[in-house]
Amino acid sequence: MENKKQDTASALKDIISHAKEYGFVFPSSEIYDGLQAVYDYGQNGVELKNNLKTVWYKAMTMLNDNVVGLDASIFMHPLTWKASGHVDSFNDPMIDNKDSKKRYRADTLLEERAAQLEDEGKEAEAKALLQKMAKCLDAGDLEGVRQIIIDENIKCPVSNTANWTEVRQFNLMFSTQVGAVSEDASLIYLRPETAQGIFVNFLNVQKTGRMKVPFGIAQIGKAFRNEIVARNFIFRMREFEQMEMQFFVRPGTEMEWYAKWKETRMKFHLALGIPATSLKFHDHDKLAHYANAAVDIEYKFPFGFKEMEGIHSRTDFDLKAHQDLSRKKQQYFDPEINENYIPYVVETSVGADRLFLAILCNAYTEETVGEGEQEKQRVFLNFHPALAPVKVAVLPLVKKDGLAEKAQEITNSIKFAFNTTYDDGGAIGKRYTRQDLIGTPYCVVVDYQTMEDNTVTVRDRNTMTQERISIADLKEKIGYAVSMERIFEKLLS
Ligand code: GAP
Repeated sequence: MENKKQDTASALKDIISHAKEYGFVFPSSEIYDGLQAVYDYGQNGVELKNNLKTVWYKAMTMLNDNVVGLDASIFMHPLTWKASGHVDSFNDPMIDNKDSKKRYRADTLLEERAAQLEDEGKEAEAKALLQKMAKCLDAGDLEGVRQIIIDENIKCPVSNTANWTEVRQFNLMFSTQVGAVSEDASLIYLRPETAQGIFVNFLNVQKTGRMKVPFGIAQIGKAFRNEIVARNFIFRMREFEQMEMQFFVRPGTEMEWYAKWKETRMKFHLALGIPATSLKFHDHDKLAHYANAAVDIEYKFPFGFKEMEGIHSRTDFDLKAHQDLSRKKQQYFDPEINENYIPYVVETSVGADRLFLAILCNAYTEETVGEGEQEKQRVFLNFHPALAPVKVAVLPLVKKDGLAEKAQEITNSIKFAFNTTYDDGGAIGKRYTRQDLIGTPYCVVVDYQTMEDNTVTVRDRNTMTQERISIADLKEKIGYAVSMERIFEKLLS
């Protein structure tokens, strides 16, 4: 019987240790005790992450005739961040506990208090608390935010005291110096979102690609945020990767496109194998200054439903701000209506790492197999075959009598078509388990019958059943099963 441990606090711990033990995610610079909120992807993690990036990028650029790619730099002219509003308002309110010296996000402390009230059935109180906080934050009343924390008697979980500092705004952008000589050096930021690289290249792409509005630009790249509290493994990191697409539309049509992209993006996550019960939309209660509509796609992580992707109707805020500050027109001449305008933008923005975590949590499966004395626990990663780091493991039943050589030959004949591994170490059961633990969908076994009739058995990861097929059919059969086309077909249906 399947037993997905996704709702308990220990589920995340199990997933984190599994990710480390089987080469998916390691803490950064671990030999120096790691660096908080920074992680490295191991030999299996990089394959899974690359598959997620490829499927996203192709779904954007190959399935939509009017979406093209871009790869902009991490460093940008510092005025970019002035125009976008990040210099002045990309802040989180922080507060320190004087006894434990621990730092917290003041809004998170209050949100957690509201969640606690909700759990106690005091929904109205929770709502009133959040409204009070939003009012203070909107008015920039940080003393007011502190007062709510005091009134609610919120204590630091480490010192168990309410000995709080004042609340201060903390800008999340990392900065550094560019230039060799310190006097000439100027301040530069590590981009906190990839979107601005798209905005400043809007006209370059539109003109050189002869793009007609509506059209989109898709990009994958690193982003950096000096998060005050980084928690929950790779969910909130200081260095992470975003997959963003800005879709430029005629003003007045943005809500239609917003609805379309909302639906398309939800379909994408479903096509990757995430069940509908683990996904939901969450409309933003409070809109950012640049947005006229915004929604999150939330995934049911072991620590609750949380944002995985944001879809925002960003109006003409960014292009207009860049036009004003750079004094370069950011307009498009629309031949259909004979008018010049600054396009409106609908943005889809998903964190590659958050999607990775969602896919990993969704795949992590524990089940009991066998009966009586034979009963045992089995763990496997139930990835969509197209996303699995390794697609096929070729295993000779024994190393002798030419079986190992035959298995090598088969490996060499398919390894350029899909990611294939060869393993002849240990009992066959142990080798199946090794592949289950990293989510390999198929194990091809070479046995004595193979030597007679050129057939092999193919074991399915999920059902553990075996099918005998001809070696000549392997490439095509497995090729189809592990192909991303199966995901794209779902997206187009
Ligand atoms: N351009 C819009 C934008 O950046 P956002 O909601 O701040 O919007 C978009 O970020 C997505 O980027 C989030 O939905 C999340 O998946 C990912 N993301 C944001 N901050 C992150 C962090 N500190 N660590 C990992 N992923 C993050």
